[in-house]
Amino acid sequence: MKTITTEALVLALAAMAGLAGCVDETARRDDSKSGSMLFAENCAACHGANARGHGDAESGLEQAPADLTLISERNGGTFPADDVLAKVHGYGGPGHFGDMPDFEDIGAGKKVMWETQNGQKIATPRALVEIVGYLEGLQR
Ligand code: HEC
Repeated sequence: MKTITTEALVLALAAMAGLAGCVDETARRDDSKSGSMLFAENCAACHGANARGHGDAESGLEQAPADLTLISERNGGTFPADDVLAKVHGYGGPGHFGDMPDFEDIGAGKKVMWETQNGQKIATPRALVEIVGYLEGLQR
């Protein structure tokens, strides 16, 4: 799994925080949605309703969407939260992770504080934090 440095993640999130002020936030903002709701709406089509891959949209993709319940296992038993956050956000731009779309626009809603593995605190879209927390809870 490609590792993204914390510095790069912080820069990407900081850039997004700056941009968020310029877009029409009302259309996309719904701060009541839980991680599982956000997952069902945005991710299940490819990663499957249970996050184990093989969603309905899989057949049209060049690359099989990952089993998201085995992220920790693939990472030696630790859940790489910063890395997952960066991947979902789409740091690196479209196409950087194959067929996985970026979800930068999910960042239009409310911000919460995210503490990186090395203790940096950074304002991060609540929806991204919810999704990453949901995925962490699914690890087996
Ligand atoms: C259009 C289909 C599609 C959608 C929608 C999608 N993904 Fe993915 N995702 C992929 C594919 C394909 C990969 C594998 C790409 C790779 O490994 O480079 C992937 C990889 C990932 C990874 C990396 C897994 C790993 O172990 O490295 C994460 C995390 C992830 N997706 C989370 C999500 C989340 C969360 C959502 C919803 C917000 C989502 N994906 C929506 C197709 C999709």
